Amino acid sequence: MPVRMFLSSGDLMADRRFDFARDLQLKGDLVAAADLLLQAIERAPGFASAWFTLGEVRQQLGERDAAISAFRKAREADPDDRHGARLRLMRLGAEPLAEMPQAYVRALFDQYAPKFESALVDDLGYRGPALLFKAVLAARAAVRKPAFFRRAVDLGCGTGLAAAAFARNVDHFTGIDLSPRMIEQARATSLYAELQLDDLLSGLRRKPDAGAELVLAADAMVYVADLVPVLAEAARVLVPGGLFAFTTETHDGEGVVLGRGLRYAHGADHVRASVAAAGLDLSLLEDRSARNEDHTPVPGLVVVATKS
Ligand SMILES: C[S@@+](CC[C@H](N)C(=O)[O-])C[C@H]1O[C@@H](n2cnc3c(N)ncnc32)[C@H](O)[C@@H]1O
Repeated sequence: MPVRMFLSSGDLMADRRFDFARDLQLKGDLVAAADLLLQAIERAPGFASAWFTLGEVRQQLGERDAAISAFRKAREADPDDRHGARLRLMRLGAEPLAEMPQAYVRALFDQYAPKFESALVDDLGYRGPALLFKAVLAARAAVRKPAFFRRAVDLGCGTGLAAAAFARNVDHFTGIDLSPRMIEQARATSLYAELQLDDLLSGLRRKPDAGAELVLAADAMVYVADLVPVLAEAARVLVPGGLFAFTTETHDGEGVVLGRGLRYAHGADHVRASVAAAGLDLSLLEDRSARNEDHTPVPGLVVVATKS
C-alpha cells in the first residue's frame, strides 16, 4: 500500500529525527536509522511511529526479539494500534492470529482513499467486482433465475466499484465501510441508496432478517480472519434463494494465514467448511485472482454461497 501512518510525537526535534531516520531506512542505512530512532524515542518515549519504525528496522536487520519488543512498545504507545503493530507481531509469530485492529483498517483506507482507484485498478490490475459479477451471473443461470436483485448489501464498499459493476442489476444498494473517506467517495458516486459507516459485521447485524437478495464483499474478506460470523450474519439477512458473493485471497495450506501483504488468505477447504458452518450452500468456488502484486496474480478465490 502506498501510504504510511505518521503520528507526531508533539516534539519538533523528535519528529525531525524520525524524518531523518526514515530517509536512512529507505536508503538502507539501517544501523544509523535505528540509532536516530532511539534518539527520537529518548526525547519522546510515547512516540508510536518511532517505535513502529524501529520495529521494522530491527526486523530488516534480522533482530527478531528486538523487533518484537519495539512493535509491542508501538502498540502500548497507541493502544488503538493505527500502525497495525499487532499484524507485524502476528507475522513474526509473537502473537496468535486474530482480527485486524479496526483503527488500523480505518487509518489505512482513509489515507488510501484519494488514490485508491488509480492505485488498485491501474497499478494492481484490480478486477474483484468484475469477477463477482460474472460469478453471480453464472450462479443465477445455473438455477435458471434472472440476475436482478431488489436489495443488495455491499460489505467493505470502498469507493463503490462493486456497486458500479452491479448498477444495472440492483435497485437498492446499501454500502458498509469502516473508513469515512472511502464512504465519502462512495457517496459521490450516487450509486448507494444507503451508506453505513461501520464495521462490516456490526453493520450486517443492524440489518433486518431476510431483507436482502444479494450480499457482496469484493476484496473485503481479506481483512477478516474468521469468515463464519460474517457468513452466518449474511445468511440471516438474505431471503431464501439469496446469494452471498465474495472474493478472498488463498493459499495451498489449511485454515487462514496472514500473508506478506498483511491481508488474510483463506484455504479453499477452510472456505468450504466456513460456508457450511454458517448454514449456506456453496454454489460456486473458483480459483480467480482479484489483483496482481509484483506483476504476478495473487492467488485468490471467487465464492458464491446461497441461502436455501
Ligand atoms: C480493498 S478495499 C475494496 C473496496 C471495494 N469493495 C472494491 O471492490 O473496490 C477494502 C475495503 O474494505 C473496507 N474494510 C476492511 N475491513 C473492514 C471491516 N471490518 N468493516 C468494514 N469495512 C472494512 C476498507 O475500509 C476498504 O474500503
